[in-house]
Amino acid sequence: MELAGRVAVVTGGGGGIGEGLCRAFSAEGARAVVVADIDGDAAERVAADLAAAGTKALGLRVDAGAEADIVELVRRTEDGFGPIDLFCANAGIIVIGGVEVPDDAWERMWRVNVQSHVYAARAVLPGMLARGEGYLLHTASAAGLLTQLGSAPYSVTKHAVVGLAEWLAITHGDAGIRVSCLCPQAVQTAMGGGRRVAGDAVSTARRDGVLLPEEVARVVVEGLRDERFLILPHPEVATYEQRRAGDRDRWLKGMRRMQAAMMAAWRSPTT
Ligand SMILES: NC(=O)c1ccc[n+]([C@@H]2O[C@H](COP(=O)([O-])OP(=O)(O)OC[C@H]3O[C@@H](n4cnc5c(N)ncnc54)[C@H](O)[C@@H]3O)[C@@H](O)[C@H]2O)c1
Repeated sequence: MELAGRVAVVTGGGGGIGEGLCRAFSAEGARAVVVADIDGDAAERVAADLAAAGTKALGLRVDAGAEADIVELVRRTEDGFGPIDLFCANAGIIVIGGVEVPDDAWERMWRVNVQSHVYAARAVLPGMLARGEGYLLHTASAAGLLTQLGSAPYSVTKHAVVGLAEWLAITHGDAGIRVSCLCPQAVQTAMGGGRRVAGDAVSTARRDGVLLPEEVARVVVEGLRDERFLILPHPEVATYEQRRAGDRDRWLKGMRRMQAAMMAAWRSPTT
C-alpha cells in the first residue's frame, strides 16, 4: 500500500515509534493522520506539527486498552476524514519481572499490549470488509518472535500480538485485508532508552544496534509498500527466528548464556 492519499490512525502516536510513524506517513503524503495517545498533550503536539507540514491531522487522548476509547477514535476519524485505510495498533508498555509480577500489572499488560489490538480490529474490520480493503499494522516486537530477557509479561503479550496478527492475515487476507506485524529489537525511545527497561540493552542492542524511531518508520513505509507481513527493522531477527525454530533446545541454551551475561553486566555496569 502506498501512503499517499490515505487515512491513517496511530495509537501511541504521541511519542517514540508511533510518533515516527505519524511523521513518516505525513511525509509520504497521507491525506489525514490521526494521532492517538494516552498523553493527550503529546498527541496534540505531534498533530500540530503534521498540520503545519500540510497534512490533515487530529490529536486525541485515547487509552488504547479501553474499548470505548477505540470506538470513539474510529468514529471521530471517520466523521472527520472518511474511512480508515490504515490502523496502526502501536501503543504498548513493559513491566520488568517474571511470574511474581502482580495480577493487576499482568492485566494491564494484557489490556494495553493485546486487547488494544483486538479492540482496534473489532472496530475497523466491519467497514474494511464491507469495502473489500483495509490495512492493519500491529506493533509487536522481536520479543514476540523470540523472547524478552527479564520480562515474562512482555514476552507473553508480544507473542500474543504476533499470533493475533497471523490469525487476522489468514482469516481475512482473501477478503482484501492486509496485515503487517512490526517486530523491532531495541529502538531509542522512552521505552527503549533505559538500560534496564530495554532489558536486552547489553546484548541485542549492543550486537545489532539501537535504531531511531525515524529509521524504524522508514522500514515500515517500505514494508507497507511491499505488503509484507513481517516488518523487521533489525533484519538479524529473521535469522534468530529460524535458529529458534530449527533447534529449540540449542536456542534456549544460547538465550540462557545471553541472560547470564546480561545479569553480570547489570551487576558491574562499567564493564
Ligand atoms: N523501544 C523499543 O525498543 C521497542 C522494541 C520493540 C517493540 N517496541 C514496541 O513499540 C511500541 C511503541 O513503543 P515505544 O518504544 O515507542 O514506546 P514509548 O514509551 O516511547 O512510546 C509509547 C507511546 O504510547 C503511549 N501510550 C502508552 N500507553 C498507552 C495507552 N494505553 N493508550 C494509548 N497510548 C499509550 C505513550 O504515552 C507513548 O507516547 C510498543 O508496542 C512497544 O512494545 C518497542
